[in-house]
Amino acid sequence: MIEDLEQEVHERRKRTPTDTARPATVAAVVCPYTRGRGEERDGEAKLLEAVGLARAIDIDVRLAETAPLRRITPATLLGKGVVERLKEAVEELGIGLVIVDDRLTPVQQRNLEKAWQTKVIDRTGLILEIFGARARTHEGRLQVELAALDYQRGRLVRSWTHLERQRGGFGFLGGPGESQIEIDRRLIGERIVRIKRDLESVQRTRAVNRVGRKKARLPTVALVGYTNAGKSTLFNRLSGAAVMAKDLLFATLDPTMRSIKLPNGKGCVISDTVGFVSDLPTHLVAAFRATLEEVIEADLIVHVRDIAHPETEQQRADVEQVLKDLGAIREDENGGTPLIEALNKIDALPAERRDTLETRAASGAARALQYPVSALTGEGVDHLLGAIGEFLGRAGTAREISVPLSDGATIAWLYRHGEVRHRRDEGELALLTVALDTAAAAQFERRLVR
Ligand code: GTP
Repeated sequence: MIEDLEQEVHERRKRTPTDTARPATVAAVVCPYTRGRGEERDGEAKLLEAVGLARAIDIDVRLAETAPLRRITPATLLGKGVVERLKEAVEELGIGLVIVDDRLTPVQQRNLEKAWQTKVIDRTGLILEIFGARARTHEGRLQVELAALDYQRGRLVRSWTHLERQRGGFGFLGGPGESQIEIDRRLIGERIVRIKRDLESVQRTRAVNRVGRKKARLPTVALVGYTNAGKSTLFNRLSGAAVMAKDLLFATLDPTMRSIKLPNGKGCVISDTVGFVSDLPTHLVAAFRATLEEVIEADLIVHVRDIAHPETEQQRADVEQVLKDLGAIREDENGGTPLIEALNKIDALPAERRDTLETRAASGAARALQYPVSALTGEGVDHLLGAIGEFLGRAGTAREISVPLSDGATIAWLYRHGEVRHRRDEGELALLTVALDTAAAAQFERRLVR
């Protein structure tokens, strides 16, 4: 019954005017920005990123422009002039999809589709398309579908009312008078329930795997970073694994893990994670917990930065903010997972900047522990591997630490950052035999002082 309904919804959707337009791959990208000092430049940078994102899923971008927002136009977001100008361009260039790199309400989306007689998606829609195209694991696909359905459910309300399709009178599908929107909503709701159930079971399995890994005491290193920073390339360098790495944003979605041998002979697991983007809608961040959970659980985070990117500092701030929001790293560096930076793409830097960078990194004057590398040429990679080994290298000599049982936070911290080899509770104290690596030991020292 549900399948029949889904089929029907699908068929009907195919008949909606927007979907019968030209092939959706020839596209225009419009990036609205508010007028103000420096905003135009930001608009340009945003536009470049949006075009990159669109190209990542083989969209043929024929037109890309920024659009200043002079005043608020509730019906279409974009001003009348922009809408009209684009209407001509859409017709002239045979554009079948316009990507508006902002948030559109369902009504605005619908109005723009009417005005341009073509399909319109906003930034969330675009990111969902990319996630959908790139999801590799079962969990990743479920998470994407869940986010997409949720998004779609919100769009059903008004964007569909104009069709005024009532199924009333027949009574063989829903109750008499049940509108198509209600049917669609119910179908989506049912699918959401099913996906959530599947996800729970997938997540249970993953938790079991993680426990297995923890038991085997293989420390994990998570590579995180802005989209296109070079994580997959570095991952390949580090692991010799053949993971897809293309000049595409979001070539990585689901965590990819490989165990590698470090110069000190010890093993570790490195995981490649999804790239960050600016203004990633919060509900999409939640949808990618699968990837991000690996980061929270990691023993060391390697932040891969595209040091040759003009907005490298802004990107760093974005990534760190998300990591903080997730609780993976902490503001005060007291607790949280240790983080080092791989300053990637040094080969693309002018010699002078590169020298400054290397001197600064070597002197330890930088804000974080930084390792200049080129994932492409392999330069600096051995040094980075050595540093990873050092960070993970257990001090070997475990020490006994007594913590009041009432201080649950410290006990939990030790379990998270050390290797608790033995525990005995005596009276009000927990006596723990813990091995801490150099970084964790230093953090613990600071914690004690406070
Ligand atoms: P997402 O999967 O989108 O998050 O990207 P990513 O961070 O995994 O980036 P990826 O490894 O796919 O690299 C993106 C682009 O940067 C590719 O064209 C790489 O060839 C290029 N790249 C990676 N490392 C370097 C480097 O050290 N130097 C230069 N010049 N280019 C690099």
